[in-house]
Amino acid sequence: MDSYNTKIIKINRTDFDGSELDEAARLLRNGELVAFPTETVYGLGGNALDPEASKKIYSAKGRPSDNPLIVHIAEKADIYKIGREVPESVQTLMDMFWPGPLTIIVKKSDIIPKETTGGLDTVAVRLPSDEIAGELIRRSGVYVAAPSANASGRPSTTRAEHCFEDLAGKIPLIIDGGPVKIGLESTIIDMSSDKPLILRPGYITIDEIRRAVPDCEFDPVVIATAKPESMVAKAPGMKYRHYAPKGELIIFRGEPDRVISRINEEIAVKKKGGKRVAVLATEESRDFYQADFIKSLGRRTDEEEIARHLFEVLRSFDELGAEYIFGECFFSPGIGQAIMNRLVKACGYNIIDV
Ligand code: TXA
Ligand code: MG
Repeated sequence: MDSYNTKIIKINRTDFDGSELDEAARLLRNGELVAFPTETVYGLGGNALDPEASKKIYSAKGRPSDNPLIVHIAEKADIYKIGREVPESVQTLMDMFWPGPLTIIVKKSDIIPKETTGGLDTVAVRLPSDEIAGELIRRSGVYVAAPSANASGRPSTTRAEHCFEDLAGKIPLIIDGGPVKIGLESTIIDMSSDKPLILRPGYITIDEIRRAVPDCEFDPVVIATAKPESMVAKAPGMKYRHYAPKGELIIFRGEPDRVISRINEEIAVKKKGGKRVAVLATEESRDFYQADFIKSLGRRTDEEEIARHLFEVLRSFDELGAEYIFGECFFSPGIGQAIMNRLVKACGYNIIDV
C-alpha cells in the first residue's frame, strides 16, 4: 500500500464556493481516495467505476473485500445508470427522502464492477444531503463509492479528526467539514427483490419509510438483541464485529434506578480488582455513578443528541484506556432503534437484564 503525507483541507461552511474541493475532485478522478463529510458520518470515497480505487478503499480501511460499498451520486436519475430493473416505488422513496440519509439497494448494471459491490449482483446507492458531499461528487464527475471513513471494526467517524486517527498515512486527503449533523450511518433499504427489507436502521425510521413502501419489514437480524444463531444478515457488513471499543462493553437493560444501582455494584467489583472502569451514561444519570470515567451521550429525551455523540463517545473509551465500560439501553420506536442497533453490535450482544 502507498504511504501518504495525509493533508487536511478545512472548509468554512458559511463561506463555501466549491472551489475548495477542486483538489479532492481531481484526486477522485485520478483513482485516489478522499475522506469527506456527509450528513450521517464521514465517508472514504473513491471512483465507484474503478476496481483499483475500490481495492484501495478495502486496503486503507483493512476491510474484508466481500463487504460491499455504497455508491454516492449527485442526481436522482443516476440510479437508473448504475442500477437496473429499478422498481417504481424507488422513485417514491427518492422523492420523499433524497437528498438524505437513506441508502437504496437495487440490482446493479454492468458498469458497476464487482469489486465495488463485494461480488454481489446488487448495488447500494445514496444521494447525500450534505452540501460538501454533493459538491464533491458533482465536481469529481464520478460516482463515489464510500464506506464510512473509519478503520474496519472501529466506530464510524463523525469528525475529520477521527478520520485522521484511523487513516493518516493511508490516504492523500481529508476534507474537514466539521462535526456531522446526524452521527449514525444511513438507513439501508433493499429494493432489489419483491420483499422490501430494511437492512440497517438509521435516522429515517421504518414508519417513515412505510409511507412510501407500506410492506417494508426489518431484516430480523438487525433488530435482534440476542445473538441470532441461525440467521444470516443480508447486509454483509452487519455480520462483522463493529463499533467495539477495546475495553469490554456491557449494556444493562431494565428500569433506570435498577440499572444505575446494578452498574454501581459492577463498578465496585471491577475497581477492587484494580480495573479502569467507565460508564456510558446520560445527562439524567451521570451524577449517580461512581466510576473513574463517566461519559454522557446527552439528554435521554433528545434522541438526536444521543445519536450525534454515540460514536465519538465509544471512541473516547479507547483514549481513556477503559478496561470495562458499563452502559445503559436506548430503546424507542424512533431513531432509538438505530442507536440500539449500533450499541448491540458494539457490545457483541453483551446485554444483561436487571
Ligand atoms: O451513511 C452512510 O451510509 C455512510 C456514508 C459515508 O454514506 N456509509 C456507510 O457505508 O455507512 P459502510 O460501507 O460503512 O456501510 C455500508 C453497509 C455495509 O453493512 C454493507 O454490507 C451494506 O451497507 N451494503 C452495501 N452494499 C450492499 C448490497 N449491495 N447488499 C447488501 N448490503 C450492502
Ligand atoms: Mg461502516
